[in-house]
Amino acid sequence: MTEFADRVEQVSISGIREVFEAAGDDAINLGLGQPDFPTPAHARRGAIEAIEAGRADAYTSNKGTPQLREAISAKYDRDYGLEVDPADVIATSGGSEALHLALEAHVDPGEEVVFPDPGFVSYDALTHIASGTPKPVGLREDLTLDPAAVEDAITDETAAFVVNSPANPTGAVQSEADMREFARIADEHDVLCISDEVYEHIVFEGDHHSPLEFAETDNVVVVSACSKTYSMTGWRLGWVVGSNRRIERMLRVHQYGQACASAPAQYAAEAALTGPQDRVQEMVETFEQRRDLVLDGLTDAGLEVPTPEGAFYAMPKVPEGWCEEVLERGVVVVPGDAFGANGEGYARLSYATGTEELKEALEIMADATRAVR
Ligand SMILES: Cc1ncc(COP(=O)(O)O)c(C=O)c1O
Repeated sequence: MTEFADRVEQVSISGIREVFEAAGDDAINLGLGQPDFPTPAHARRGAIEAIEAGRADAYTSNKGTPQLREAISAKYDRDYGLEVDPADVIATSGGSEALHLALEAHVDPGEEVVFPDPGFVSYDALTHIASGTPKPVGLREDLTLDPAAVEDAITDETAAFVVNSPANPTGAVQSEADMREFARIADEHDVLCISDEVYEHIVFEGDHHSPLEFAETDNVVVVSACSKTYSMTGWRLGWVVGSNRRIERMLRVHQYGQACASAPAQYAAEAALTGPQDRVQEMVETFEQRRDLVLDGLTDAGLEVPTPEGAFYAMPKVPEGWCEEVLERGVVVVPGDAFGANGEGYARLSYATGTEELKEALEIMADATRAVR
């Protein structure tokens, strides 16, 4: 019999799903990685109008429609004053495909990929799928990634390092100074920095910065998406931005694996990016209020929790048995070790859930904390 490829045998279905399966039907779910808001009406309309006019029936250009790539380019100018040629953008099936393209195009078998631990589950899995070797690095006490730790982890075998800010699962936001350092490391060590910026707009204090603003070489590629910013996870629309030579390599993977991103989703994304942005602001304000609520509730329960400055996650340190106790009492949280070995002793809570449910969940978590202490 044909055996399965090693690279897929090394990957298992995420620990997050196991938690969901263990939860009862009426559990309060703080495990979700998606905003609990509707997609803005003008984005939906963008797709509906394109479908009704028959513009969404055919393949688009492999990189995506020129109008969408113009809109993405204009976004980088608007947000960061960065000039991105629309030819240097590929519209992808979510940020997930963009990460896959970046790793497939740059990692040779056995080469190392450095990424945060705890970190988003795909970094480890996609490194294996690219036949690379994962090199997880631990975080600072405040759960940010230390550029010095990344620099220490780089060897002659390193193909890439991943930076993710704001971060899943921690909610941590890297400072501008850190982003400058990541850019310097990419330049000086001549390794690729993959900057995963899917939460770029969900920042509570200060501004998000990208290593792309500071790099002097083309050693930074940026991954982002409509998924979190516009509450469009189901639409599957993201992108990757990089120098032309890198985009042309990533395009080879995209062309044969995907052909193009879904046309209706591309029209929705174009409308989301070019239309009013007030919905994003409202969503971020709501997340900030919930962040404060969660932070107060967890602190009052006696848990230590670094202040998350972005995304919609909190990551408290929790006593042994806490996640199981909380789950048994009807609240779904994800054990920190689902995000890497260094996540052990933590739990990830998503506050992409209504305030009333959050309050109820915080009471249950306080009771559970007393029970396991
Ligand atoms: C850090 C991070 N990067 C990428 C993604 C993938 O996003 P998408 O839904 O656009 O594929 C996620 C989704 O949870 C994420 O948390």
